[in-house]
Amino acid sequence: MKLQKNISLQPYHSFACEESATFYTAVQTKEALIEAIAWAKSNLQSYLVLGSGSNILFTKQYNGLVIKMEITGIQKLQESPSEVLLQVGAGENWTHFVSYCVQKSWGGLENLSLIPGTVGAAPIQNIGAYGVEVGEHILSVDAYDTVQSEWVTISQLDCGFSYRESIFKKEVNRFIICSVQFKLSKQPLLRTDYGAIKAVLHDRGIRNPSVESIANAVIFIRSSKLPDPKKLGNAGSFFKNPMITKTLYDQLILQFPSLIAYPINDNTYKIAAGWLIEACGWKGVTKDQVGCYKDQALIIVNYGATKGKTIFDFSEAIIQSVKVKFGVMLEREVSIL
Ligand code: EPU
Repeated sequence: MKLQKNISLQPYHSFACEESATFYTAVQTKEALIEAIAWAKSNLQSYLVLGSGSNILFTKQYNGLVIKMEITGIQKLQESPSEVLLQVGAGENWTHFVSYCVQKSWGGLENLSLIPGTVGAAPIQNIGAYGVEVGEHILSVDAYDTVQSEWVTISQLDCGFSYRESIFKKEVNRFIICSVQFKLSKQPLLRTDYGAIKAVLHDRGIRNPSVESIANAVIFIRSSKLPDPKKLGNAGSFFKNPMITKTLYDQLILQFPSLIAYPINDNTYKIAAGWLIEACGWKGVTKDQVGCYKDQALIIVNYGATKGKTIFDFSEAIIQSVKVKFGVMLEREVSIL
């Protein structure tokens, strides 16, 4: 096992702050992963498995072993005239994997094009965009259960997927995902109902969209609206869209008629956090080299802050002002360490 000591985490997470880790190793095989965990346990070190670090904010030095997941590979398990089953290594780049499926016209993941991150990270927060969540297309997840010290295959149902949630997020660090099995369709039901996708297809004169034309529309929308984490430090949506009760919704809509909300069930509404943040005047605001993105208020960008704590404090100020104005408590979507 190749162990590095006292390294900067700057290259390993998209906020690119200058926090460090006491130990670091990268793993390319399951055996190397087990070895790294065993090393951490026997040296009484905590450990953290990192994909491409696109949904994490380090606010201090990480005292322990950072294990960079680099198990890759895309393997076809089964193919029929209607569908294909794939097994994909956790360290595969998500965008690369989605493009691979799009090129083959295997449908399901095209609405999730260009989301930063790795395949192994996708089920953790059940990544979602433009009307699709990854959990819908996952058959099962292979993981190492660090509590039982054994390999497990967790079925889609047992992953407990819901909006930006899964068992992997609830039981942090228990399961280490090594590969994900996807079920994709050769005759996909294309999801074009999201307003922005509809508009792009219309502008391009596309009446019978394909997996590829939807992927291209999503890539166009994301690149025109969201900052590229390779150029400007960010982790996509910093907050989740909050769920509120119908009682609170009824009060808010009277006071703020342009509030954007979606009914989830008879008693619950999901409201657009970006709208709440913008209504508090944050959109485009920069302080201490941290900013609320000018085109999408849900995104916090790092314009040069070296300390993760500065970004955290900025997010806290947003949470407090939304709470004061609307009585709604925003929850961070990004993992804070
Ligand atoms: N809105 C505002 N102001 C803003 C941002 C949004 O008023 O600054 C309004 C929009 O006008 C729209 C509504 O809020 O009516 C929803 O906005 P948008 O369609 O941009 O989606 P979102 O709810 O802000 C979610 C995901 C994104 C995903 C988009 C598209 C969450 C936390 N975020 O954002 O995911 O790309 O939908 O499906 O659910 C990510 O997770 O990193 C991410 C970018």
